Amino acid sequence: MITMQKAKEILAQHITQEHLLSHSLAVSGAMAAMAEHFGESPEYWGAIGYLHDIDFEQYPQEHCQHVRELLEPYGATDEEIRAIESHGYGLVCQVQPESNLEKSLFTVDELTGIIMATSLMRPTGITDLTPKSVNKKFKDKAFAAKCDRQVIRQGCEMLGMELSEVIALCIKGMQAYTQELHLGAKEG
Ligand SMILES: [Fe+2]
Repeated sequence: MITMQKAKEILAQHITQEHLLSHSLAVSGAMAAMAEHFGESPEYWGAIGYLHDIDFEQYPQEHCQHVRELLEPYGATDEEIRAIESHGYGLVCQVQPESNLEKSLFTVDELTGIIMATSLMRPTGITDLTPKSVNKKFKDKAFAAKCDRQVIRQGCEMLGMELSEVIALCIKGMQAYTQELHLGAKEG
């Protein structure tokens, strides 16, 4: 089982861009909160979330196709590799999310982007962000337009959860990294 510390050591070998590292941490926090919701291991889900874009910097045009070759040398299991591959389902690969871990990763990947963008616009950042504010931005298609709303809706359906419930969990999970993500209240 990959730990958070191991995940950090691994990702540092493959991702150098600051915004990708931030995105990885945001997804990791969200996944830890999803794990708690499902009574699973926050550390393990967080580590998978942290590693999910491992091949993106090296292979942006072949995203999710190089997960196995990059992770196998570190002793990653088939379950871990599959979980990461499946977050590109329907977009860059055909590995369908099946477990709650996989469905969660598929859903929060895009959703954390909207939450991050919403937080950055607010003087108080993510510290007192409500699902209602995020929902509003979710409906505004021009806002953070790169974040695919359809994928998020599809993910919530797979999970059998309401969007607002998943948003609340993502906010809570990302708040664990408020400082690292620079999402605290602005000074002055
Ligand atoms: Fe991602």
